[in-house]
Amino acid sequence: MDYTTVLYSVQGRVATIVVNRPEKLNALNAEAIRELMAVFAGIRSDTGVDIVIVTGAGEKSFVAGTDIGELASLDRVSGSEFSRKGQELFDVIENLGRPVIAAVNGYALGGGCELALACHIRIASDKARFAQPEVGLGIIPGYGGTQRLARVIGEGRAMEMILTGIQVDAHEALRIGLVNKVVPHADLLARTRNMAEAIASNGQAAVRLAMKAVRNGLEMSLAEGERFEATLFGECCATKDFKEGTRAFLEKRKPLFTGT
Ligand code: COA
Repeated sequence: MDYTTVLYSVQGRVATIVVNRPEKLNALNAEAIRELMAVFAGIRSDTGVDIVIVTGAGEKSFVAGTDIGELASLDRVSGSEFSRKGQELFDVIENLGRPVIAAVNGYALGGGCELALACHIRIASDKARFAQPEVGLGIIPGYGGTQRLARVIGEGRAMEMILTGIQVDAHEALRIGLVNKVVPHADLLARTRNMAEAIASNGQAAVRLAMKAVRNGLEMSLAEGERFEATLFGECCATKDFKEGTRAFLEKRKPLFTGT
């Protein structure tokens, strides 16, 4: 299917999504939100995709926020609906059930920072810059940013970023735990792909259950989380990947996982 604001490709078992409005620094308009939702819905039902990479078109920007032109006319009711639409998309990304890696190639501002936060792993180019500048426009982050940023970098740092709107460069983002890794700009996609392929070479049944354990566990007490982990550990032991992984180790060969 052809999209206007998004490029989609699959190589091996790794899908790449490029937000493609470079003339607007990849700002998310309503069409981009709709198209991203359609792409992720397609991935959910595609058994050929194990890992997803999200990045922005052009050299300058990952996503420079929601489209400010579309924001200007919102009122109390339409504003809340607008926020829910973006939240729904980012919840779909977070709950996709397979890893989504943000390759942050430049500005990740407002909705762009929130998009990166909805991904499970963030790799930044040394040119990346992050901010939640919404209060400077008289609004607050509305695509999950007030919730996810504090969960990722802690309350005090999230408050500072959200209340000042200050831009954080890639090295500061690494220092405060906003990104997993900073790589030279020219190597960003190759390094992200290497990580995606390393994940894809593991047993995908276990990868998905591990994600579920970490994600759902964050909403639980430690004791509940451990019970949940034990249940999922048991589920792993019932998979073919588990039999194959342990047998391959004992036979000193590479495992041939099927994801089942
Ligand atoms: N919404 C709509 N359009 C945007 C946009 C956004 N969030 N961010 C950038 N653009 C557009 C600009 O309006 C400009 O369009 P034009 O050429 O038709 O005038 C184009 O993208 C290039 O941006 P420009 O501002 O000229 O680039 P720059 O290098 O001078 O500045 C930024 C880059 C990112 C610092 C600046 O574009 C900016 O501050 N953007 C808004 C960021 C923001 O507040 N995001 C949160 C929104 S909730």
